Amino acid sequence: MVKFDFISPTRIIFGEGTENRVGEETLKYSKKILLHYGGGSIKKTGLYDKVTRSLDKAGIEYIELPGVKPNPRLGLVKEGIRICRENNIGFILAVGGGSVIDSAKAISVGVPYEGDVWDFYSGKTLPQESLPVGVVLTIAAAGSEASKSSVITNEDGWYKRGLNVDIIRPKFAIMNPALTYTLPPYQTASGIADIIAHIMERYFTNTPNVELTDRLCEATLKTVINNAMIVMEDPCNYNARAEIMWAGTLAHNDLLGTGRVGDWASHQIEHELSAIYDIAHGAGLAIVFPAWMEYVYKHNINRFAQFAVRVWDVEYSFDSPEKTVLEGIKRTRSFFGSIGLPTTLKGAGIPGDRLEEMAAKCKMTNGDTVGQFVRLTRDDVLNILKLAQ
Ligand code: NZQ
Ligand code: ZN
Repeated sequence: MVKFDFISPTRIIFGEGTENRVGEETLKYSKKILLHYGGGSIKKTGLYDKVTRSLDKAGIEYIELPGVKPNPRLGLVKEGIRICRENNIGFILAVGGGSVIDSAKAISVGVPYEGDVWDFYSGKTLPQESLPVGVVLTIAAAGSEASKSSVITNEDGWYKRGLNVDIIRPKFAIMNPALTYTLPPYQTASGIADIIAHIMERYFTNTPNVELTDRLCEATLKTVINNAMIVMEDPCNYNARAEIMWAGTLAHNDLLGTGRVGDWASHQIEHELSAIYDIAHGAGLAIVFPAWMEYVYKHNINRFAQFAVRVWDVEYSFDSPEKTVLEGIKRTRSFFGSIGLPTTLKGAGIPGDRLEEMAAKCKMTNGDTVGQFVRLTRDDVLNILKLAQ
């Protein structure tokens, strides 16, 4: 195990009807807030009415900023910063999924900063202060409700980049699994793939002696996989939605990564797909992750075999551990396919003519390589994209 600091300050308010507490929780921070949401699903589902009723009851004044798109854009973030400054806003309430939350986080660090908020995403500097953010979560996926990350797309060049700092972790996250019943099946499945990917990014590590977190990762993966099959059949199954929703938070609040160095190459590679082709992030991961696995598994056959046996119940082949590994990768890919996700670029309708461009734009996190489990060069990234075709 390596040294770690672990902080997860977000108050989780979990269960049926908890969205009605949003007014009282928000009041702890400010009487004047920005109410931030997406393309309108919250109005169709009736959540908007519940939230605004609760805010009204608590005497909170809110200015609305709707219109966050999946793969949230810098342009709207800048508008949010302007609105907050002009109206002396003290708190941002994000009602939605990862995109709305990430946009809210970006606004929160942009308001007190004199420079361009993109400086935080381009790596020029790090934010020192932020407005507090609260969340009413409507999709189990990104884990942004308790994570230290925000991922924003700059329309100028279509760069999708992340910021990772503890000060942007939300103050509270209201999580009612029943709010996710209305998700289209494709969004449910994309969310599940993202959750699985967050665990796998941490699982594939070179850090030795990480038994506890290995086991926590495996348990969380198995829980998500089992309950995924249930919700795809029965979208209004509260218990299965609840298991997935809580797993989504634990997959990305860093608990499962304590004491180990995660990989994160698949995420960086995927960000190029969703930046250029605007596909759901989780769907992109269902394409990239199995290809990454195929490309790197020889680096540590034992770890991949452990994954295959413990997560996918593959029978260990003593004659050929590699056979065990390949079966594990096959089951990972077919699981994504079984919940309705594309597992190849072609399957997602993405042509092969911009692979070089994606490899060239991919953010290299360690100088000229990306990823920790195996440090990939741009040529490796291109090879993985080719494998994903
Ligand atoms: O915009 P509306 O109309 O609300 O519709 C949304 C959106 O179209 C819809 N939706 C959400 N909840 C719904 C619903 N529709 C019906 N009923 C509901 N209850 O679902 C669509 C997708 O929403 P989005 O917020 O984009 O999904 P997700 O939570 O998967 O977020 C994806 C974004 O998060 C980033 C991704 O890169 C992507 O930009 N990530 C953020 C992370 C973080 N901050 O920690 C980590 C992740 O690795 C990820 O990169
Ligand atoms: Zn993700």
